[in-house]
Amino acid sequence: MKTGQLDVLLGLQWGDEGKGKVVDYLSSRYDIVARYQGGPNAGHTVVVDGKNVVLHTIPSGIFHDEVKNLIGNGVVVDPITLQREFELLHQLGIDAKERVYLSRRVHLILPTHRWLDLASEAAKKKNKIGSTLRGIAPTYMDKTGRNGIRVGDLFTKGFVEQYQNLKSKHLRLLEMYPPVEFPLEEEEEKWWNAIDFVRTLQIVDGEQWIWQALEHNARILAEGAQGAMLDLDYGTYPYVTSSYTGSAGVCIGLGVPPSYIDEVIGIAKAYTTRVGSGPFPTEIEGEMAEYLRQKGHEYGATTGRPRRCGWLDLVQLRYSARLNGVNRIILTKLDVLDELEEIPYAKAYKIDNTISTSMPYRLDDVPIHPVYITTEGWRTSLDHITSWEDLPGEVLDYVELIQHSVEVPIHGVSVGPERHQLIPRY
Ligand code: GDP
Ligand code: IMO
Ligand code: MG
Repeated sequence: MKTGQLDVLLGLQWGDEGKGKVVDYLSSRYDIVARYQGGPNAGHTVVVDGKNVVLHTIPSGIFHDEVKNLIGNGVVVDPITLQREFELLHQLGIDAKERVYLSRRVHLILPTHRWLDLASEAAKKKNKIGSTLRGIAPTYMDKTGRNGIRVGDLFTKGFVEQYQNLKSKHLRLLEMYPPVEFPLEEEEEKWWNAIDFVRTLQIVDGEQWIWQALEHNARILAEGAQGAMLDLDYGTYPYVTSSYTGSAGVCIGLGVPPSYIDEVIGIAKAYTTRVGSGPFPTEIEGEMAEYLRQKGHEYGATTGRPRRCGWLDLVQLRYSARLNGVNRIILTKLDVLDELEEIPYAKAYKIDNTISTSMPYRLDDVPIHPVYITTEGWRTSLDHITSWEDLPGEVLDYVELIQHSVEVPIHGVSVGPERHQLIPRY
């Protein structure tokens, strides 16, 4: 029984495609926005009254007064970051407490999860994942290992003991690693204060809350974090995150059957970026990479690290679109390419002298040489354009070649960070 609508919006590359901006733009069409995986490793930027606001845990529908926002059970929450986000929104005049709902089944990130993340990364030395150090992998490990602590546990008698037991286990694990500094006492104090705050939030059985909303005809947008190539199973393993970033993750992370999902909206950047370690076939270095980084402000929204930059990769994009059943794409950051004479994009991979258009098992096993083609640049500024008809022919050519190759229609393009800088096609 489902009567409303459930659409999914997810990143098709290595994250930071502009999901936050597009969710904010689309939110006026929905009653509920629900995050279904990831945690404070995410950084979703929304420009509000000319100011950049970065959300880590709270869904990007929060800037619309009439939209409710659910943090679904597939998300891992750090109470400290969550409280800080509420405070930030409060300073902006937004009473998020009224419109944010937290699933009882959400797993909590403990200070010692962050310490373990730090120790594990330090021990990996040059093979480090480039984690955001937010404790994501250790928390999901405790979830699958059946040791985790959930929001619902905050209200049980044994909660403090549960915390102490898990912390003791972590301290024993930490002995296996070379020592790394961590201000545990200070972080624990903040954590316990934040726990008191979390207890005051609207806590619900997320899956039943969603079913009920759908029965009352609600329109729901599931907001993904990270991107398809960071998915635990289908991304560039082991250089991935620890959750299911794709459309399948919606079922697990919100408690809805696959048959409930309507549209799957994929967000793709007009070029490609990646932050952290791991293979990236179309990565470029030198002046052009620096140009894209500066023009696109390609610095991590969560960690501030410079993002690695490169060209659009159609092999990768086709794979992500197919994997997730994407039926429309929104192409972002086209304006970053405004001044280029020519725009290269990869159509295939050359591996051991064989040309292939399918995704190999590993991207870091043997050298992959992208087969580049170039398309003509538009050499004009797009940021003021508001209607599809006014887009230069070269932009339409780029859009056409992408949708032809990926076999998914492009339904809109984004030409700037502000909400209004999104040009719908239909
Ligand atoms: P997310 O993680 O997918 O939500 O993306 P991030 O917020 O981490 O990174 C996207 C960055 O690009 C942010 O700084 C956005 O404000 C900005 N942005 C989004 N769309 C556009 C666009 O179309 N053009 C430009 N120039 N910037 C954009
Ligand atoms: P949004 O939602 C870009 C990357 C990290 C690292 C790897 C594993 O803003 O697109 P983790 O902390 O999850 O253990 O790190 O995944 N990563 C992201 N890269 N955007 C993100 O989120 C990311 N979240 C994690 O840089 O390489
Ligand atoms: Mg981001």
